[in-house]
Amino acid sequence: MKITVCNGKGGAGKTTLSVLLASAFRQAGHRVALLDRDPQGTATRWIGETHDVELAVAGGDHRILIIDTPPQLDSPLLHQSLAESDCALLVSSPSPADLWTSQDSVAVIRRHLPAGRPARILFNQVQPRTVLGKDLATLAQRIGLPALSAHIGRRQAFQHAALLGWSALDAASREELLQAALELSALQP
Ligand SMILES: Nc1ncnc2c1ncn2[C@@H]1O[C@H](COP(=O)(O)OP(=O)(O)O)[C@@H](O)[C@H]1O
Ligand SMILES: [Mg+2]
Repeated sequence: MKITVCNGKGGAGKTTLSVLLASAFRQAGHRVALLDRDPQGTATRWIGETHDVELAVAGGDHRILIIDTPPQLDSPLLHQSLAESDCALLVSSPSPADLWTSQDSVAVIRRHLPAGRPARILFNQVQPRTVLGKDLATLAQRIGLPALSAHIGRRQAFQHAALLGWSALDAASREELLQAALELSALQP
């Protein structure tokens, strides 16, 4: 199962969630690899620090491939990734300022992900007790894709995890990631 993680905006959390979802799949016993298609190479460097997950190599023996993509909707690397994926995962914050980019990202997903393949939103940086955190279903409707019922809170632990890996995450963060991974694996063709 190939999953393209995308959003036209930098800072949405694509790289953070690509690496940590790959870790979550691994924790759940899946053979997973990560393909870093962002020329900035953040995911590659991150994995070089933590060794939590494998980077994809040609002919590698994995069942799940997570593809991190650049924050440009006109990137051929993004289009190619979507075209060869079984599923697209749009990482989006619930901030209204990010709504428009997320809607534009949906248009690109629809154009390049082969027909009939599932696409989902994963809300990131959610603050549960705020108005925005409470109405994720309405927001998903406006963006134009169904959302996973799992969402990812805004916590410093996610920043520490860039250096220290899965072991830096608290139980709540792990639980959110494992639930998202479980929902994604249920979409498997
Ligand atoms: N859930 C979160 N809670 C707190 N900080 C986060 C969260 N997700 C991402 N970040 C931080 O936001 C910044 C941008 O994340 P990143 O994954 O690099 O975004 P992108 O790959 O979409 O550009 C990073 O500093 C990262 O640590
Ligand atoms: Mg990135």
